[in-house]
Amino acid sequence: MPRPVVRHQYDAVIVGAGGAGLMAALEASKTCKTAVVSKLYPTRSHTGTAQGGIGAALGNVEPDSWEWHMFDTVKGGDYLADQDAVEFMCQEAIRVVYELEHMGLPFNRTPEGKIDQRRFGGHTKEFGKAPVRRSCYAADRTGHMILQTLYQQCIKQAVSFFDEFHLLDVLLQDGRCAGVVALCLATGEVHVFHAKAVLLATGGFGRMYKVTSNAHTLTGDGCTVVFRRGLPLEDMEFFQFHPTGIYKLGILITEGARGEGGILRNGRGERFMERYAPTLLDLAPRDMVSRAMYLEIREGRGIEGKDYLHLDLTHLDPSVIDRKLPDIADFVRTYLGVDPHRQPIPVQPTAHYAMGGIPTNLHAEVLDERGQVVPGLYAAGECACVSVHGANRLGTNSLVDIVVFGRRGGQRLAQWAPAADHLPLPKEPEVMAQEALSRLTTNLGGESAAQIRDELQQAMMAQVSVFRTEAGLKEALAAIVQLRVRYGRVDVQDKALRFNTELEEALELGCVLDLAWATTVAALARRESRGAHCREDFPDRDDANWLKHSLAVLRDGAISLSAKPVTITRFQPKPRVY
Ligand code: FUM
Repeated sequence: MPRPVVRHQYDAVIVGAGGAGLMAALEASKTCKTAVVSKLYPTRSHTGTAQGGIGAALGNVEPDSWEWHMFDTVKGGDYLADQDAVEFMCQEAIRVVYELEHMGLPFNRTPEGKIDQRRFGGHTKEFGKAPVRRSCYAADRTGHMILQTLYQQCIKQAVSFFDEFHLLDVLLQDGRCAGVVALCLATGEVHVFHAKAVLLATGGFGRMYKVTSNAHTLTGDGCTVVFRRGLPLEDMEFFQFHPTGIYKLGILITEGARGEGGILRNGRGERFMERYAPTLLDLAPRDMVSRAMYLEIREGRGIEGKDYLHLDLTHLDPSVIDRKLPDIADFVRTYLGVDPHRQPIPVQPTAHYAMGGIPTNLHAEVLDERGQVVPGLYAAGECACVSVHGANRLGTNSLVDIVVFGRRGGQRLAQWAPAADHLPLPKEPEVMAQEALSRLTTNLGGESAAQIRDELQQAMMAQVSVFRTEAGLKEALAAIVQLRVRYGRVDVQDKALRFNTELEEALELGCVLDLAWATTVAALARRESRGAHCREDFPDRDDANWLKHSLAVLRDGAISLSAKPVTITRFQPKPRVY
């Protein structure tokens, strides 16, 4: 039985209520009737878990410049980032941080009352000479404060919010976007949002891994609907592992802890980063620190020979921990029973951030495989690939990315949409979504979504994480292909319309399966090591053959890969030494 359908019409529909979505909504609502469709209550969005800060070369505590920020971002990304986009982002970062301050964001302050800044991985002065204090922060709750600030502003602007709506489909008509379809969790109804323009800001998909800092909701719904409609995903092989997740749980312990002086130690008590990055030490970029941690563990130097290491804050003034890192102190007391004033924290690398996603230009407009704009469709934040992070994102640059490109996309949309018409919707726009829902609830295949998810996460963790090999990737790919077949037999036991979270989890599993597939196919093809993509069988970066972005497109049930050039302006690729 098809579900009841509810129809809406807006000028602009933003999907996702994290920092990128709210920033876009704020701008769009200046000229457009704007709705935000969000899987969560907005202030529960995953931006709220971003802890250590937003990078901007304010130079409040020591000299800094956006050119240094740009250089660090390009080098940190192993020269795969598009440098025009990085330049724009690093310049705009300064403006948006002040804009957030003026909206009321409670940043920590210097004694003179300026926004305080702390060190973060890979951020340096004078093109790599020494760490610089660039991260503007609100204790270790920076993302949380961004969300609260932007949500209040959106309410003031009378943006309409549709909370707890799960994205099911994006509607394309003659190559243009005409709206989206979503499931209302509270009622089980299908909602069709007819829009002149849609901006996707649905975040990442770390839930394809077993140990992750990502919330349960981070299943890449926006990337998946676009991919299933035949649009490309860019650079999917690059997935970042953050060095300091709480052991086994993956919950983030901010890099800000190392920015404040925290040290990583192995089972012998050694500061092992001295061997891997003699200048930046524990504040080297994340790909390097995570690899070093894996190597220490692999070579038997984990704590008591086990698969974790220590983050040591015990030498810090306890008041620094209490004032600047209160949340992580609370997390480790709660989850581990560890007192960070007196005891080191057990940590391991945790799946954290997708560098790849929906290709866009600098205006957050989505691009097709030929690089042409898809009219009316925008994407920003982690679900998008503009690409400012290249092969490895620097800490703090995700918050910069969401506010800079969320704002840019919202502005573009605010200019474009008022003069545009609503395209006619495709006939029966909700059909594909209704079919997917009915398949999952009427199947008799007997497969459990939870079991498939568990197997997927194990396979990705074992073979598509920090170190990769051809054999391992092939093994993971074979597993994913099988799991996708079994997914076709998933049988949701709960048949209720209202608050059917079992159904929602099954829908999410479909998304992570597709994105894990694209990630693994792209990782298998890239026969070099660059940033977060480390092939043990191809250990060197190979600029002659691989200084290019990958595009993965779903065509006739298979993934086809193609390439796209990298934009290089100021900084020619060089070996990465820290
Ligand atoms: O370590 C952190 O606070 C995370 C920040 C980020 O991913 O940018």
